[in-house]
Parts: sequence; structure tokens; C-alpha cells
Amino acid sequence: MIAPAAVAVPPARRRRRLAVAVAATLVVLAPLGWFWQQSLLPRSYSVMDMGYLDHGGGPAAAMTGHGMAPMPMPMPTRSVTDLTAAPGVPDVDLTLTARAGPIDLGNGRTVDGYTLNGTSPGPVIRAQQGDLVHVRLRNESVPGGITLHWHGVDVPNADDGVAGVTQDAVPVGGEFDYRFVAAQAGTFWYHSHQLAHEQVQRGLLGALVITPRGGTGAGADALLLSHVYAGTATINGRPGAVAFPAAPGTRVRVRVIDTDNGATPVWVSGAAFRVVAVDGAEIGGATPVQDTAVLVTAGGRADLEIDMPADGAGVRVEIGGAALVLGSGPVRALPRPPRTLDMLTYGAPAALPFDPATAQRRFDYVIGRGPGFLDGLPGLWWTVNGHLFPDVPMFVVAAGDLVVMHIANDSGEAHPMHLHGHHAVVLARDGVRATGAPWWVDSLDVENGRSYDVAFVADNPGIWMDHCHNLPHAADGLVALLMYEGITTPFRVGGGSANAPE
Ligand code: C2O
Ligand code: CU
Repeated sequence: MIAPAAVAVPPARRRRRLAVAVAATLVVLAPLGWFWQQSLLPRSYSVMDMGYLDHGGGPAAAMTGHGMAPMPMPMPTRSVTDLTAAPGVPDVDLTLTARAGPIDLGNGRTVDGYTLNGTSPGPVIRAQQGDLVHVRLRNESVPGGITLHWHGVDVPNADDGVAGVTQDAVPVGGEFDYRFVAAQAGTFWYHSHQLAHEQVQRGLLGALVITPRGGTGAGADALLLSHVYAGTATINGRPGAVAFPAAPGTRVRVRVIDTDNGATPVWVSGAAFRVVAVDGAEIGGATPVQDTAVLVTAGGRADLEIDMPADGAGVRVEIGGAALVLGSGPVRALPRPPRTLDMLTYGAPAALPFDPATAQRRFDYVIGRGPGFLDGLPGLWWTVNGHLFPDVPMFVVAAGDLVVMHIANDSGEAHPMHLHGHHAVVLARDGVRATGAPWWVDSLDVENGRSYDVAFVADNPGIWMDHCHNLPHAADGLVALLMYEGITTPFRVGGGSANAPE
């Protein structure tokens, strides 16, 4: 037997071994250092220079930025600031003043956060379909700066409220005017899109309800805005069981809004219900269901229609440990039913306004997870089509294009994907065609291991976020943009206004 320690290495060989070890270390570390250095985000940047252009099989026109060689005939460029609603006298006109401070949860508890006109959620904004809405946002004391995004409303791009893309964040003492036509009736909400992962969670949000001119056909209209404040589940800002008056035999429309970061199940104790709208779009032929939960996507909405029992019994709409209690009669709280409604097959099928087979652009939005550096920080980060933020796709379209997008998720977690400025219709899930009523969404929960094909018409020129509405995910780079040819933005992420959209 030979003891290893007894083998003597000559000095020359020992030096060579050291040199090889140092070289090997450099071979490993130098590229790592390069990747680290490359991942550092500049102090300020324009989304016009971000990521890479993906034309989705459509023609590659000249875009500003992106280091492309200038074309002999440059495309006319319009700024996002020109994309506004037509002038007119507003039908709905209000000012929202944002402050940092305590939020009263009404149960003797206050939490530290942000308010709009003294409350969180902020005032419910109600408009009739077709109304011109004007909201003046003032920032009295939110140190990071603020904006308002009208989630689900296909507003003109200048009014989309994305800091660093469609405007600068409103600093303390500043104000910003939003104007848009409430073209689509339905349930929507608004929230800050500056430091969104922090400001939304801490209260800079509210509901926006747009009713059709002729009414909804329901006797009563109830709001169920669900939000968790520092661990306390609330409905319209109140924890526990929240009462809503409803007479026996009447029909109530309950507008559920999920303002948190994950999909939330909602179900009804004491009555059947129909899901009459999702994300502001009516569901045709909605049949009554019972003992069934509806999973509301983060950022998404579901309108439930409930006929109150004629015998005077009450009804509970259960969500996340809180409940909206309709009527004053007796009702027993039921646990979450095992069945969950599948929107892919719910409601009456109807023809789409277009033929997806004729799409001009086809995009992949494949979400994964991989090792790398995000702004110098090593970790396992979200990827889009294999790329890490900020090297994410800029989906390029021309106004009028029909777009089909394949969203797939193999990242290990669900992602509620939200496209600004447009509504998309779900064509298929995991390759299985949708057979229910056309299922239009602005917020779509893409579960791990699943894929969805969606289609939309690019009919709202601008530069639009298409991101995960689990807002910490977005802050970690699960973001892409939909860009119209010929549109540019003067705003920058970072910089003097410290714009930080997510
Ligand atoms: Cu609800 Cu990009 O936002
Ligand atoms: Cu996500």
C-alpha cells in the first residue's frame, strides 16, 4: 500500500499545476463576470431600446431605436403622448388625491399604506357606457411617485398610466389628468403602475364600474373588491362578513374583482349563480351553476348573477376568508366546493368577429425559469422565450393586424398574464379548442404546465405592457411589450422621475 502523502511533487510541476488552476478559474469566472456586467441595467433607459424585436412573421418595418440601420424612408413616428381621447366635456369628472398614511379597516385595525381621497380602496368610479371620464390624480404625499392604470379598460395609450412608458410618475405635489371614453360596459379597476408591486398591495387601487345605458337587468348591483391588507382579507376594504341589502326574490349582480397577486376562488352559499361576465365581457348563455367555485384571475373580474331566494333566506358570496352577505335572512357558510367552473366550455358558443386562421402576426410568449443575473443579482429568474429581462421580446404589430399569441408556461408557477389596451379571446387551452361562449380576457391565469392560444385585434395604437399580474413577478422581469409600428415614447424607465413601472 502506498500512502498518497508520500508522493513528492517536483517544484516545477507544482508551479504548472497552480498556473492551470488559475487559468481554469479564470475560464469559469471571466464569462460569469461578463454576464454579470452585461446584466446591469443602465440608470435610465427607453423601452424603445429594450429587448429584441419580434415581428411575429409580419413585415419588419423601420422602428426607432434597437440599433437598426435607418431606412431610406423613415416611418412617420407618433409619440404616445399624442394618443389621447377626443376633446369634450367629461360626463364623469373627479379628483383623486393620494396620500401615504394609515388605512382604516373598520374593525379597530389600521394598516400603514396609501389612500385615495382618504380611503383604500379609493372611491368607486361609476360611469355609463359611452361616458367621457376625466380623473385628475394628485400626489399629496406618496414618496415614490404614482400613476393610475385603468385595468381592463382599453384607454388611449397616453392615459394608460405606465410610469416610464406612457408618462412620468407623478411626484409629491404633482398632478396628472386622465381622460378616456368608457366604451365597454363592465367591471374594471384602477391601480398605480409606478412601483406597482409595492403600491398596489399597500392600497393604491379602486373599482371602476361601467354600466350599460339600459341598465344590467339586475335589481341590485353589488361590488366585491377583494384585497388583502397586511394579511387581512377584505371586501371593499372591510374584513369578515360584509352585509349587502337584497330583498327576497330580487336579482343581484355581484362584481368580483381580484386585486391580489394570485388566483382567488369565489363560491356562493345558499343559491345558484350564473357567471354573466368575465373581465368586463358578457358571457352569452350563462347557465346556473351550484356547488361550484369560480377561480378569479389576479387582476381579473367575474360578474355573478344571483336570484335571491323567495323565502327570505340570505346568500353568501365567499372569497378568501371573507364573505359578502346578501340579504338579512339565515344562510349557512359552505366550504369551497370541489368543482371549479371551466370557462373553456361554459356558456353558449358564438361566432368570433374574425377568423384566427387569417392572423397577420403569430407570437410565442413562453414563460420559463433559468439561472442568470438580473441587474447584477444571480438567481433563478423568469424567462420569456428563453430570454432574461431586459432582453425580452417586443412584439411588433401594425394597426389593424389580427394577432394570435401562444402563451405557454413551464416555469413551475402560475402566471396571471395581463395585456394592456386590448381584450383577447381564448381560442384553445393545451391545444383543446374553446367550445363555450367566446371567453374574452385581459387577465388570464396560465397555470404551470399549461398553454393557451389567444387572439386579438391590434386596434389601439401605442406601446403596451404585456406582463404577469403577480406583481412581484413583474418586478422580477416577467414583462414584455406590445409595440405598434410608428409609435415612440419620450419617457424613460429610471432617470430623474425614478420611473419604475413594476
Ligand atoms: Cu393591472 Cu400592468 O396592470
Ligand atoms: Cu407570474
